[in-house]
Parts: sequence; structure tokens; C-alpha cells
Amino acid sequence: MEGCRIHILVSVSLMLMFPVVYGWGVDGHLITCTIAQTMFSNATTDAVNNLLPDYADGDLASLCSWADQIRFHYRWSAALHFIDTPEVCNYNYARDCHDEAGNKNRCVAGAINNYTSQLLGYGNDSTQYNLTEALLFLSHFVGDIHQPLHTAFESDKGGNLIDVYWYTQETNLHHVWDDSIIESEEDDYYGEDVNGLINAIQGNITSEYADQVPGWEICSNNKTACPDVYASEGILYACNWAYKNATEGTTLGDDYFLSRLPIVNLRLAQGGVRLAATLNRIFG
Ligand SMILES: *[C@@H]1O[C@H](CO)[C@@H](O)[C@H](O)[C@H]1NC(C)=O
Ligand SMILES: *[C@@H]1O[C@H](CO)[C@@H](O)[C@H](O)[C@H]1NC(C)=O
Ligand SMILES: *[C@@H]1O[C@H](CO)[C@@H](O)[C@H](O)[C@H]1NC(C)=O
Ligand SMILES: *[C@@H]1O[C@H](CO)[C@@H](O)[C@H](O)[C@H]1NC(C)=O
Ligand SMILES: *[C@@H]1O[C@H](CO)[C@@H](O)[C@H](O)[C@H]1NC(C)=O
Ligand SMILES: *[C@@H]1O[C@H](CO)[C@@H](O)[C@H](O)[C@H]1NC(C)=O
Ligand SMILES: *[C@@H]1O[C@H](CO)[C@@H](O)[C@H](O)[C@H]1NC(C)=O
Repeated sequence: MEGCRIHILVSVSLMLMFPVVYGWGVDGHLITCTIAQTMFSNATTDAVNNLLPDYADGDLASLCSWADQIRFHYRWSAALHFIDTPEVCNYNYARDCHDEAGNKNRCVAGAINNYTSQLLGYGNDSTQYNLTEALLFLSHFVGDIHQPLHTAFESDKGGNLIDVYWYTQETNLHHVWDDSIIESEEDDYYGEDVNGLINAIQGNITSEYADQVPGWEICSNNKTACPDVYASEGILYACNWAYKNATEGTTLGDDYFLSRLPIVNLRLAQGGVRLAATLNRIFG
């Protein structure tokens, strides 16, 4: 664990200097994992406590950005954070789940399946995998797959190549969805406090969204993980909301922010609920 701790310290300082990350930003991942933790079964809580390093003190959310922090070190994992479609508004595993070199299964949906099946070996002493890493990857990737621009067009790298202004700030569309919308929401409504936003989303899970939550939790045909469902939803949100009215050079302001906010909130809620449901199926 010592090597890992040193690495995390180094990575955290790197992240403070270069706050450019793949996937929901640090707050997005903190939000999905914090929501998930409140919905763990006792068996999941026990397994997670067992697998987390001691310094995490049982708090999975504190390590939910680990997969971003180690991507400089584990370069092979970079392709596992997203899915590229060939500029079409639908997703197909066989067509889209590969890395740039064409290696199959190397996308966020393939990675969710991979780490789910590794974790199903929990309790089997002869497992060949590092299940601490499997848990941290899975928890991160279930968040990422809910960020609409993580299942998006190859041609613009999921919005990374679309330069826009967020109010007056120069940035790109991918970053707007990873971070800017969430940060502006925290600033404008919750006194810059991520916990205020987490509480509000949790309030919606038990009220506004309550009727839909059982449907989010389901993974049909006895499957343990359902990443294809989430990716198919994601590309539709990308086409209908993220890319709309956000072409190169556009200034995105109140109209864009206020109309996209409910989608970001919904996807964060779904990510949290589905991570808990997936881990609860894995650990029984
Ligand atoms: C598992 O991975 C963690 C995080 O990378 C690392 O700290 C730990 O040493 C690994 N465990 C084993 C047994 O290799
Ligand atoms: C966990 O176990 C405790 C007692 O051991 C029980 O009261 C509680 O309802 C359980 N919680 C869940 C989420 O199953
Ligand atoms: C599956 O997990 C192993 C161990 O982390 C990794 O080496 C491999 O690249 C992963 N493959 C996919 C498709 O996620
Ligand atoms: C435990 O893992 C080994 C090696 O991967 C496998 O052969 C065996 O079937 C597993 N046992 C159970 C009970 O899943
Ligand atoms: C799901 O699993 C249960 C128990 O293993 C089995 O009885 C049922 O037929 C399975 N359903 C499907 C759709 O595979
Ligand atoms: C895009 O902009 C047009 C013109 O302002 C507006 O009518 C439309 O509702 C906007 N669509 C979205 C999804 O924001
Ligand atoms: C709560 O739900 C409403 C209705 O769907 C939505 O507009 C709002 O953005 C949600 N807020 C949070 C914090 O989830």
C-alpha cells in the first residue's frame, strides 16, 4: 500500500496543478460515490471496507477519482474512460467498444464488464486480480459512463475538440460537462459546497425521482452489470442536449446552463444509484 499512497499524494498535487481530467471532474465522482455509499447493502459495506486501503477509512468516495489520478502511470487505462461513436447518435458495443488501435472491449462499457467479473471472484482466495483496483476502477467508470459526452463522437473526442466559452471563461465542451456545470451549480445554489448539492440530489432520489429509481436499479436478463443501457442513454443526451447549440466558438451562458442542469443532476443521481445496485449484486 505504501507505493500506492505515495503515488496518490503525487497525483493529487499534479491534479491541483493541472485540473484537467477524464470523466466527471473530482466533484462529479465524489457525488456519485457518496450517493452510492448510502445505498450499500451490509454485504457490500463489508466487502468495500475490506478492499479499501486503510487510509481511506471505509470511505469509497474519497478514492473515486483514483482512476483519473493513475492514468499517467497506467497509460493502458486511458481508453477505458469513454466510448467513441462514428458520429452517429446511437451506440453499438460490437461497433464502438474498442480503443484507437482497434483492440476490442477497450472502452468504458468493456471495462465495467471486466471489473465486475473480477469482483465476482471476491472471497475466492485464488483470484489473480487486484480487487482493490477493480473496485476503484468500477466505481469510477460507472460514474464516467453517465457523463453524456463520455459516449460521444470520435471526430471531436467527446467534445474535447470543441472550444467554447463558459460565460467568460475559455474552455471546451467536454470540460463544461465534466466540471463547469457542476461547479456553477455549487457556486450559485449551494454556497460553493459540494455537500449541499449531494444533499439536494439525495432529496430528489427520495422524492422527484422516487418512482424511477427501481427502474434504474434493474439490470435485466440476470446480468450483474448493464453498461450498454447507460451508454445508449448517454449518446442520446449528448446529441439532444450537450452538442445542441454548442458549436465551436459559442458562448454558453444562462440558457444553456439552466436547461442542461436537470440532465446533469439526473445523470449524477443515476450514476450513484446504479453503482450501489451493481455492487450490491456483485457482493450479494
Ligand atoms: C493492489 O492495488 C493497490 C492500488 O494500486 C496497491 O496499493 C496494492 O499494493 C495492490 N495489492 C497487491 C496485493 O498487489
Ligand atoms: C445491516 O445489519 C443491521 C444489523 O446487523 C440491520 O439492522 C440493518 O437493517 C442492515 N442494513 C441493511 C442495509 O441491510
Ligand atoms: C481488465 O482488467 C485488467 C486488470 O486491471 C486490465 O489489465 C485490462 O486491460 C482490463 N481490460 C479491459 C477491457 O478493461
Ligand atoms: C476461484 O478461482 C479459480 C481461479 O480463477 C477458479 O478456477 C475457481 O473456479 C474459482 N472458484 C470459485 C468457487 O469461484
Ligand atoms: C435468472 O436466474 C434465475 C436463478 O438462477 C433463473 O431461475 C432464471 O431463469 C434466470 N432468468 C433469465 C431471464 O435468465
Ligand atoms: C437551441 O437554440 C434555439 C434558438 O435559440 C432554441 O430555439 C432551441 O430551443 C435551443 N435548443 C436547445 C436544445 O437548447
Ligand atoms: C431535482 O429534480 C428536479 C426535477 O426533475 C430537477 O429539475 C432538479 O434539477 C433536481 N435537482 C437536483 C439537485 O437534483
